[in-house]
Amino acid sequence: MTVLVTGATGHTGRHVVAGLKAAGVHTRVLVRDETKAPDGVDVVQGDITDPAGAADGVDAVYLLWPFFSADGIEKALEPFRGKKIVYLSAMSAEDGGVWGDVEAAVEKVTGDWTFLRVTGLATNALAWAQDIETGVVRAAYGQAKRSVVHERDVADMAVKALTEDHARQVYLVTGPESVAQADQVRLIGEALGKPVTWEEQPPEEAIAQLSGYLGAEFAAGAVNHWASLVDDPEPVSLDVARVTGHPARPFAEWAREHFS
Ligand SMILES: NC(=O)c1ccc[n+]([C@@H]2O[C@H](COP(=O)([O-])OP(=O)(O)OC[C@H]3O[C@@H](n4cnc5c(N)ncnc54)[C@H](OP(=O)(O)O)[C@@H]3O)[C@@H](O)[C@H]2O)c1
Repeated sequence: MTVLVTGATGHTGRHVVAGLKAAGVHTRVLVRDETKAPDGVDVVQGDITDPAGAADGVDAVYLLWPFFSADGIEKALEPFRGKKIVYLSAMSAEDGGVWGDVEAAVEKVTGDWTFLRVTGLATNALAWAQDIETGVVRAAYGQAKRSVVHERDVADMAVKALTEDHARQVYLVTGPESVAQADQVRLIGEALGKPVTWEEQPPEEAIAQLSGYLGAEFAAGAVNHWASLVDDPEPVSLDVARVTGHPARPFAEWAREHFS
């Protein structure tokens, strides 16, 4: 069996590669820059929007679609027709959007799909890294409670889905608890051994700031989503524990790994 990992230089993909190697699975990666490829795997240089060369001879793919639109997904998926596709999706796929569109396109090319729908990745907190150095994180909705998931848990789920039969399964992939964003910042401070506090940012300012790299529509959507999570926390799912056999890693553990 050969598995192709896309996004192999990214947060989840690098752990998917490590997990597959540890399981003795022949692994290939599709990377834009060969110098960044992990060691000990087959490397194909290319772009996810045109993966034909990388898909040749693989049985399964760990798929990331790192764009804000599903334009071009049909061409990208064609080389994987009939193969196993494990797609890193989002809980919001149930409401459509880019993740819903990609899931629908995946279902058109194969019956052997698994959707890993995450609420949010703990790595989103890395966006606060500069503020954390100053001791004050200024962002919107500190009381938004998010069940963010450790990238290793996503990868553990992916390795199971890639190496076992999880066809047509939709998993909700979350951390073990919902943690307010202000508490995430406090836990990062504890990991660092210095206080880090939250400063509430007006939502309009947050949208303007995030629009720079998310685009106006996505930025407004994200900030409005956080607003809703103040009174209605993101759900906590047991799918990580059920599929991997170990409980999902808490945010405090993630913070210690990345900030101490
Ligand atoms: N953040 C969240 O809360 C959240 C929630 C739901 C779903 N997701 C999904 O998770 C994805 C991010 O996953 P991640 O954190 O594991 O990755 P990541 O750390 O954001 O890294 C992105 C990866 O995609 C690769 N990449 C980007 N554009 C590419 C292209 N055109 N062709 C080939 N490879 C390309 C990058 O490679 P280079 O090294 O070449 O840059 C990198 O390996 C998002 O795109 C989103 O779809 C995220």
